[in-house]
Amino acid sequence: MNGLFITLEGPEGAGKSTNRDYLAMCLRAAGIEVLLTREPGGTPLAERIRELLLAPSDEAMAADTELLLVFAARAQHLAQVIRPALARGDVVLCDRFTDATYAYQGGGRGLSQQRIAELERFVQGDLRPDLTLLFDLPVEQGLARAAARGRLDRFEQEQRSFFEAVRQTYLQRAALAPQRYRLLDASQSLQQVQAAIDGLVPMLVERCRG
Ligand code: TMP
Repeated sequence: MNGLFITLEGPEGAGKSTNRDYLAMCLRAAGIEVLLTREPGGTPLAERIRELLLAPSDEAMAADTELLLVFAARAQHLAQVIRPALARGDVVLCDRFTDATYAYQGGGRGLSQQRIAELERFVQGDLRPDLTLLFDLPVEQGLARAAARGRLDRFEQEQRSFFEAVRQTYLQRAALAPQRYRLLDASQSLQQVQAAIDGLVPMLVERCRG
């Protein structure tokens, strides 16, 4: 079995967590060991950085601070979890990764894509996801779903224009590297999205088996 690095991406309210669990269940049913993890987070220290990133605060967080915290958490996650798992030949299913940095810190905050690419090279070297499932849906719909979940975190409190930029950045990145991305229409019912995931499972199983 070859190690395979699969990431799930999408704006708020896209149902990533539910679909991540569903996909993990499908892969496990096919006899594939899956390590489920998430960003920011995935280790105790990286989860503490996540709390800093998500907690609303009276002190505005500078965009560069946010960017560096995201990559600090990622460096820890890579060292403790992702790289060892891939080296063992595991399939890693990660809820968000560096595409989220391009979308949120690049698109949303307006930081330079080149600066993000430099940090990506510094922290990850050559490591990139093998496959990325992008759960896309209109901003309005995603924000309504996020609001229904309760108290909003620091990102969820952003303006609509921020999320439009996040969504467009994701779509642009997917369009530029179609071999790496699979686009899923997350505006559909959960059943329909899961049917689309079912359609991807044979290809994923084949890739996992190398
Ligand atoms: P979650 O809602 O998927 O758990 O993600 C938490 C938030 O973190 C989400 O609003 C997106 C944000 N985020 C970034 O801004 N940059 C990143 O690189 C990552 C991984 C997440």
